[in-house]
Amino acid sequence: MQLFNTYTKYDINLLSGEGITLADAKGKEYKDFYGGHGVISIGHSHPHYLFRIENQIRCLGFYSNVVENKLQDQLAEKLGELSGYTNYNLFLCNSGAEANENALKLASFHTGKSKVIAIKGAFHGRTGGALAVTDNAKLASSYNAQHEVVFIDMNDSEALKTELVKGDVAAFIVEGIQGVNGVVIPEKKFLKEAESLCQKYEALLILDEIQSGYGRTGMFFAHQHLDIKADIITTAKGMGNGFPLAGVLIHPKIEGKSGLLGTTFGGNHLACAAGIAVLEVMKEEKLIENAAKVGQYLENELKKLVGEKAIRAKGLMIGVDLENMAEIKSALLFEKGYFTGASGEKTLRLLPPLTLSMKEAETFISEFSSLIKKQ
Ligand SMILES: Cc1ncc(COP(=O)(O)O)c(C=O)c1O
Repeated sequence: MQLFNTYTKYDINLLSGEGITLADAKGKEYKDFYGGHGVISIGHSHPHYLFRIENQIRCLGFYSNVVENKLQDQLAEKLGELSGYTNYNLFLCNSGAEANENALKLASFHTGKSKVIAIKGAFHGRTGGALAVTDNAKLASSYNAQHEVVFIDMNDSEALKTELVKGDVAAFIVEGIQGVNGVVIPEKKFLKEAESLCQKYEALLILDEIQSGYGRTGMFFAHQHLDIKADIITTAKGMGNGFPLAGVLIHPKIEGKSGLLGTTFGGNHLACAAGIAVLEVMKEEKLIENAAKVGQYLENELKKLVGEKAIRAKGLMIGVDLENMAEIKSALLFEKGYFTGASGEKTLRLLPPLTLSMKEAETFISEFSSLIKKQ
């Protein structure tokens, strides 16, 4: 059997990782400024992460949600404490798309309505509902075109109101910061208005923090910079530091009942051990503060190199617009040994682990600068 052809891959066979450093089968080292799509929050092979996972697999790796699992309660308590959403309830699942799928379904259950408002350029995942609120026609089949979804421009409160007034909207879904669309940061005024308009017209506000959450931007969730609260928040990527783990944080006004949501693997013992380790390391090593500090340094230095207008950034979620982005990205990888990401044709996307040190950031700036000056 061969693998189904769906990914474009580099011919690099990674075998090990430690902190932000990766090594391939030929012994070549790389620095990870992308974290495998923003997944690596506490660094590769963090000792506390290994300790928790190793211990757990020796005791019990998995049992389904038919039994009590105290690790889920511990994870929920720690997540509530670090995020500030102490009175919300947590549903655990396995991937970002699954978290959004459940968030959208819950909003529909709760409001009795089915239409959803989403933002142009949004990415929310590749399953049925999550793909329907994703604004990329290339990813959708006709099977996916059966949902009631309206796309509006980012920051267009008037358009949001026009749709909400109709009274048939279950939810408005928006990324804390748009990632795939090139690090697009919503305006505070827009999300403040969205918060009150959703309340007024009895629709739920869903914040997709799958890429922008878990400390990446220097707050636990990106929307917390804007002083708003969401009814439902979805999280994945950094939550398990590579172990498949995702969550839906649910406002207490939304009632649960037996059988409403479910998953076989979600919240299993090993996944919870990974998730608990991530939160413990984030707290112990003050990684949210670190993301704010090192991110600010990178933002300032990058602005000096390519100009203010070319940078959109919050903490360690950074977009750099470059005319020759693909060339620079390739040179960073093959000449300098840096993994970075891309959004579209022009934006280089940086999502390094939150453990990134000032020294590692300085070295990156000097390598990046030598490439820019060579052009
Ligand atoms: C904002 C956002 N939402 C949802 C997803 C989907 O997550 P997953 O690939 O885990 O299904 C992603 C993945 O990139 C994302 O960036």
